[in-house]
This record gives sequence, C-alpha cells and structure tokens, in this order.
Amino acid sequence: MVGAVSVSSGLAFGYDQGVIGGALTFMQEEFGFGSFVEGLITSWVTLGALFGALIAGNLADRLSRKRVLVIAAYLFLGGAIVQAVAPGVPILTIGRFVIGFGVGMASVAAPMYVAESSSAATRGRFVSGYQLAITIGILGAQFADYTLSEEGTWRLMVGLAAVPGLILLVVVTPVPHSPRWLVKAGRTDEARQAIVKVRGPTGADDAVDEIVRQVASEPESSWGDLLKGGTRRALKVAVGLALFQQLTGINALIYYSDDILEEAGFTTASAQAGASLIAVGVVNVLATFIAIAFVDRLGRRPLLMAGMTGMLVGLVGLSVSYLYDARQADTNTVVGSLSIIWMVVFIASFAFSLGPVVWTIISEVFPTGIRARGMSVATAANWGAAFVLTLLFPVMMDDLGPSATFGILAVLTVVALRWTWVNVPETKERTLEEIAAMFESAPTTR
Ligand code: BGC
Repeated sequence: MVGAVSVSSGLAFGYDQGVIGGALTFMQEEFGFGSFVEGLITSWVTLGALFGALIAGNLADRLSRKRVLVIAAYLFLGGAIVQAVAPGVPILTIGRFVIGFGVGMASVAAPMYVAESSSAATRGRFVSGYQLAITIGILGAQFADYTLSEEGTWRLMVGLAAVPGLILLVVVTPVPHSPRWLVKAGRTDEARQAIVKVRGPTGADDAVDEIVRQVASEPESSWGDLLKGGTRRALKVAVGLALFQQLTGINALIYYSDDILEEAGFTTASAQAGASLIAVGVVNVLATFIAIAFVDRLGRRPLLMAGMTGMLVGLVGLSVSYLYDARQADTNTVVGSLSIIWMVVFIASFAFSLGPVVWTIISEVFPTGIRARGMSVATAANWGAAFVLTLLFPVMMDDLGPSATFGILAVLTVVALRWTWVNVPETKERTLEEIAAMFESAPTTR
C-alpha cells in the first residue's frame, strides 16, 4: 500500500514534468504564441509546485499527510482537465499552475508518508521507489508525446495526466494515516494498528514506544525552530542537497536532449523524440534500480559520491565535445556522436544518486515534530532552483555556448561533491528517531 502511494504520486510528478516538451509545438500551432508565453506555460508547473510545497508542510501537520495526498490527487485531476479543455492561453496556464500545485504538495507529502510508514531497513528502498515512479512518469510522458505527435493531439497529451491522479486517489483513500502523525495527534492505538497493518505485528510495540518517546521529548515546534540546534544542521543538509540536485543540471539536460541528439546526427524531430525516449527515458528508469538495490545496503553516501563523479565525467565530456565540435562546420561528427554517450553517463549517474538519494535524505533527517515544515522548505528550494535553471539554461546556451554552459555545470558538480563529502552523514539502517538524535549531537559525516 505504501509502495502504491509512492508510485502513483511519483508517476504524476514525472508525467507533468515530462509532457510539456512534446506538447508545446502543437499548442503553439493552435494558439500562435511567442517565446515569452512558451516560457510561461513551461515554467508555471514548477512555480505552482514551489507554492504547493510551501503550503504542504503546514497542511501535512494539521490535516495529516494522507489528506494532503488526497487534495493533491484532486488537483492532478482538476489541473489535467482544465488544460485539456483550455480555450486559450490564460486558462491553459491556470491549469498548469493548478497541476503544479498538486505536484508540489505531493512531493512533500508522499516521501514523508512513505518514510514515516516504513521501517529503518527498507526506508531508502521505498523512497527510491518514489523516484523510480518519477522516472517512469517522465518516460510515459515522452512515450505519449512520441506516439501522439503524428496527429498532434496535445489535449490528450496533457489530459492523460489525469490517469496518475485517479490512481493516487484510488490507492490513497484506504491506507492508514502515518503512525508518526497519529502519535503526534494523540491517537497512539491507531498508530499501533497502522504499523501492524503496514509492517506486520513483529516489533510493532517497540516501534510505537520509540515514536511516543521521541514525540514526547519534542516541544511544540514553530518555523523558527528550523534554525535551532540539530534541526538547523538537518536543514542545511536537506536544503543543500535539494539545491545541488537541480543546480547540477538534470532538468536542463532532459529538456535539451533533442539538441544534443541533433548534434549526434538525429536530424528529424521524430528521430530525436525516439532516440531521447531511449537515451534519456529508459536509461533514467533502469539506472534507478541500482539505487533501489543498494541504497539500504551500501548506504546513501557511497551512492552519492559515485553518482556525482559519474555526472562530472559526463559534463566534462559534453563540454569538451562541444568545444571540439565548434571547430568543425557540420554536425554528425564522431565527436557529436560521442556526446550521446556522455549524456547517457550523466543521466544514469544522476538516476542512482542525486535523484533518489536526495528525496530519501530530505525525508529522514528532520525530527517528527518539525519534519513537515523542514521538508516543505527543502522541497520548495528544490522547485525554486528548478525554476531558475529552466529559465536561465536557454539564455546561457545562447550567450555562452554549450561548451561553457556544461563547463559551468561541471564546476557546480565539483562544488556539490565536496560539499556532500563534508556535510552529509550516513543515515542507512538508523531509525528516524536515531537520526534525529544523531543530528542533535552534531553528526560526523562518516
Ligand atoms: C528531480 C526532478 C527530475 C527527475 C529526473 C527528480 O528527483 O527532482 O527534478 O526531473 O528526478 O528523473
């Protein structure tokens, strides 16, 4: 059940993030807008998500994690329908914002619900399952764009976003509330039942006792408490990772993949869409399984360090390829073809590290009393950085050129690597309560 909640939220997240690339051309044909409106329609999902994430923290405490997911499911449905029937650009943009709002709320509540409902030994795997669903959602969107592009039915492309919304609504309705939220609300018996329902009876009493002890030791928290003691250290780790996940360029590469493929000799739009389905979509899904297999065994840190090193190799490769390519007059050179390999190396390395591990760590570093608020801030920072990068990347590509742009992303990746090495502690196999205690006593990174 917990897996199904995480999968359906992730599917909606990925689909909405991924679908616009293929739909834009046809929207443009129908409504005839310029590049400003194009940016608006693309970025308003991210902007909606930023606000949705900010509000979700408070709501997750007051209404419960589960009810926030129910609201998000209705927003997915509503936003998809509004977009599909939009008579013009203003309503279309409103639909994009509404669905973005749902994505933002779910991106806080889903990993939180999953982390709070699973055991210490499986938490990383479960939250990585959420990332797997995001990647499948992106792949699904690419596939929809590719197959529907023949007829150019953009309304169907965006309308299909209602499907993961509907699935989320169906799976989230019967699941129990998160045990940690129940304990906080003074409903300890129900918390025990929820744990038994999700993890079985073994160890359920101990798990409840530990949660009760931790919740009792936490005074009522306010936003200001995010900046105190262990929570401040947790906030630094969560926000830092959230920012680096975006600032190292994943979404820029996903959006820009068609141009890289063009360089490599895929000249028609449909050849590019087909190739990026494989080189981006499928690789992104498959490499996420590496994280699912190893995140609870090897731990978060080894995956992060290895993955970011791979991303660095990919970015340096791309930067050098383009430097070289700039001197050749035509595309489809050997160097151009090599750029596909660098892109695949980058995407695969992200998919088993910064993708899943960041959502895992964000969901596990905060104490229960302030987890919702902490996750809200970190997730909003993630969407904010995604928004800025999506806006800046095309300008950087035009003004500085691809070689310098990928070079800058490579430098940011080096900064991210060093920062992670110094600041991010290992959290595998510890209960959420042990992690809270570890941050309170100033964690060492190894
Ligand atoms: C990120 C998204 C990104 C996706 C790619 C997620 O973890 O938050 O911004 O598009 O991974 O798979």
